[in-house]
Amino acid sequence: MKHSGRLFVPSLPTLWPHMLLSRPKPGELPPFSSPNVRYFYFARNAIWLTVKMLGLDSGEVLMPAYHHGVEVEALVDAGATPRFYRVGSRWDVDLDDVARRIGPKTRALYLTHYAGFPGPVAEMRKLADQHGLILIEDCALSLLSSDGAVPLGTTGDVGIFCLYKTLPVPNGGALVVNGPRQYSLPEPPAPPSVSTFSHTVSALLQNLELRGGLAGRALRSAVRTLGHGTVKAANIERVATGTQHFDRKHVDLGMSPLTKRIAQAQDLESIVEQRRRNYFFLLGRLRDISAPLFNQLPPGACPLFYPLVVQDKAEVLARLRVQGIDAIDFWKRFHPACDASAFPEVAQLRRSIVEIPCHQDLTPEVMADVAQAVREAVKSDHRSKKRAG
Ligand SMILES: Cc1ncc(COP(=O)(O)O)c(C=O)c1O
Repeated sequence: MKHSGRLFVPSLPTLWPHMLLSRPKPGELPPFSSPNVRYFYFARNAIWLTVKMLGLDSGEVLMPAYHHGVEVEALVDAGATPRFYRVGSRWDVDLDDVARRIGPKTRALYLTHYAGFPGPVAEMRKLADQHGLILIEDCALSLLSSDGAVPLGTTGDVGIFCLYKTLPVPNGGALVVNGPRQYSLPEPPAPPSVSTFSHTVSALLQNLELRGGLAGRALRSAVRTLGHGTVKAANIERVATGTQHFDRKHVDLGMSPLTKRIAQAQDLESIVEQRRRNYFFLLGRLRDISAPLFNQLPPGACPLFYPLVVQDKAEVLARLRVQGIDAIDFWKRFHPACDASAFPEVAQLRRSIVEIPCHQDLTPEVMADVAQAVREAVKSDHRSKKRAG
């Protein structure tokens, strides 16, 4: 179905031209504020390097059954063996299950903070310490998020971040090493500048469409067609971000200098505020038609998106796309190493969660339209299920 409405709600924040010219500000949250940090093209590269750096490649890592899949792929490629623990229907880590599954080959515990919602990091730290294990804190979906006063990614032995899901940067992942141990890590080489340029132009064009309505959309579409032709003709290697699979070919790629520049132009505190405001708005407008996964937003949490619970993902996604809302199917598949039948709550989550954007580019007026479109899409979903039943 083609997008026909006047709304344009991209899933990620867009790049405003002034961000290319702003004066750098000191980042007051990790990874920007961390004394020991290495930047990469992707978060997955940081996961791969963590396994190698900490010598986890001959052992087992206990990971959540609710995972993206690419983090598991990176870990497996680096030589570690994943084992999986239970996560409940509200993204809640089953700590008893984690403790039960620790065995003689376990080397590390892996905790993922889902979409900015803090996981039980203090409890996982305690378990790791009791058993002499490493704790990996995956904050790929939780940049700028804190649990009260504790920034995510500062409790684990390492914290892993993805920059381009939260900020309008062309690429970027980070590995933060906490504690006194120093590792001498090589500085990864910068990525091909044509690839950075291509991502940057597309984020600028998205911004144009966001601000320019129909005229912006037409211009973006014309430039995109031209751009695709040029990329093909010049045989340019565009290293795509947000992809589903790990590719060893890109494991050594670093972050572009432009990413750093754009990241330093951001007002991080106000991004957290805007995302929280948009999240609360959706919570208030949607709770009567779809029971919220969470009834509140913990202090300090910076939501990546609003997790909407639906019955028929494909139908709701298609309806939202027609309205111009780039909602995303959140984590449909288990990694093949994980036995889906052993984790029924996770299987149900995989069938039912849709990401509704709530990022910093979306004004209260746009959020009102988003909420209205979501209400209509969910009501039609209910109606068609009733008819089918
Ligand atoms: C939990 C989690 N960890 C790691 C990653 C990898 O992030 P990147 O795309 O920066 O490699 C993802 C990607 O979606 C993820 O969801």
